[in-house]
Amino acid sequence: MEFSDPRMAEAVAEYERRHRDELACMAQLPGPELLARRDEFLLPVGAEVAGLLHALVLARKPRTILELGTSYGYSTLFLAHAAHSCGARVITIDLAADKQAHARTMLERAGLGGQVTLLCGDALELVGAQPGPFDFVLLDIWKDLYVPGFEAVYPKLSEEALIASDNMIHPEGARANARALREAIRAKPDLQTALLPVGQGVELTVKWSAGNPRL
Ligand SMILES: C[S@@+](CC[C@H](N)C(=O)[O-])C[C@H]1O[C@@H](n2cnc3c(N)ncnc32)[C@H](O)[C@@H]1O
Repeated sequence: MEFSDPRMAEAVAEYERRHRDELACMAQLPGPELLARRDEFLLPVGAEVAGLLHALVLARKPRTILELGTSYGYSTLFLAHAAHSCGARVITIDLAADKQAHARTMLERAGLGGQVTLLCGDALELVGAQPGPFDFVLLDIWKDLYVPGFEAVYPKLSEEALIASDNMIHPEGARANARALREAIRAKPDLQTALLPVGQGVELTVKWSAGNPRL
């Protein structure tokens, strides 16, 4: 994706440079060390999923976007850029204050700081304290928390809300949690869902209610 605003283009390029370097470093680490050091790395959704999220926000024009899993702010930057175009707000949650401080700096450098509320803490608790409703959700916390994260968000979805859940195909170690999430989604009568082979695999879920006269 290309951005005409040089501040956005430079922020994206900086993330991409860092991610390239990190991939080389991560490839050298044995599994247990990689797990122990995971908070050092961006672990971003990646360019394809970022582009998908950006396009979905532009098309759907949500009012409130909720992101579970800010990390260092890569996906947040794309959500905030699209949100700026359609007048939406982004609320993003992460456990790690230092990662969110970096995300805030990057958003401000891109001129998008005013678009985003960063909440630091456990997403499972903080979502419950938010009034909602949420029109667009990115689920990207640690994968063993996908089902409780989804269940926390579900009662706060607006009609026609979208949920994008990342890492549904890769990495392999997340597949059991991804399967459990798909089952939890399919158990809800008012959700339609599809697995998209984009990036690491995105489950795209739409709230669909037969009583909604617009649908
Ligand atoms: C895969 S990273 C998110 C990557 C980010 N969406 C991006 O594309 O740049 C997962 C993040 O979820 C955060 N996280 C994990 N469990 C959490 C929880 N219970 N509450 C809030 N954040 C959590 C981790 O600190 C980590 O930064």
